[in-house]
Amino acid sequence: MKILIAAAFWAGMLLQAQGPPAPKNLQVLPKDISHDDLMKAMRAASQGLGVQCSFCHVPREMDKDDKHEKIVARHMFTMVMNLRKTEGMPEEVASKITCWTCHRGSAHIELPPPPAPPAKKQ
Ligand code: HEC
Ligand code: HEC
Repeated sequence: MKILIAAAFWAGMLLQAQGPPAPKNLQVLPKDISHDDLMKAMRAASQGLGVQCSFCHVPREMDKDDKHEKIVARHMFTMVMNLRKTEGMPEEVASKITCWTCHRGSAHIELPPPPAPPAKKQ
């Protein structure tokens, strides 16, 4: 029993020393993104949609692409990144374009219908 505990302890130490594993399947985010920036982007996406990581990911296998939500999210990341690159768009405008801008904390967006067109003047 003591040996088992010691082995688990050293395995834990080794994992910590190695740090988080490098991402294996980034297709739209920069491949050399730091772990901190990747987690910032993931937290922003989760908060923007009001969901947990498992909405898009198979837990502990974040590199897998087997959830359609992750595939959609990849296109959404591309859309947001492209919009932000719009030539001439001031930084303070570009930085307002996030997942939250449209999603407002829900994966599925409940929008009121657009208002009726203004009545014609007589
Ligand atoms: C709205 C969907 C969505 C949510 C929620 C989300 N992710 Fe992601 N995640 C993605 C997408 C899309 C990619 C791939 C990006 C790419 O291809 O560049 C990704 C990639 C990753 C990767 C890199 C995996 C690899 O090896 O390639 C990690 C790690 C990760 N996410 C962790 C998380 C964590 C932790 C959370 C919760 C805090 C989270 N994600 C929440 C969509 C999401
Ligand atoms: C310009 C508006 C807009 C922005 C910005 C936006 N989305 Fe979306 N997204 C939508 C709309 C509209 C839908 C369809 C919503 C619905 O099903 O009610 C959608 C659907 C989704 C879905 C599919 C949900 C499902 O269950 O199939 C995911 C995942 C998603 N968005 C992720 C993201 C992420 C991550 C970001 C930020 C990187 C983002 N979106 C930014 C408009 C946007």
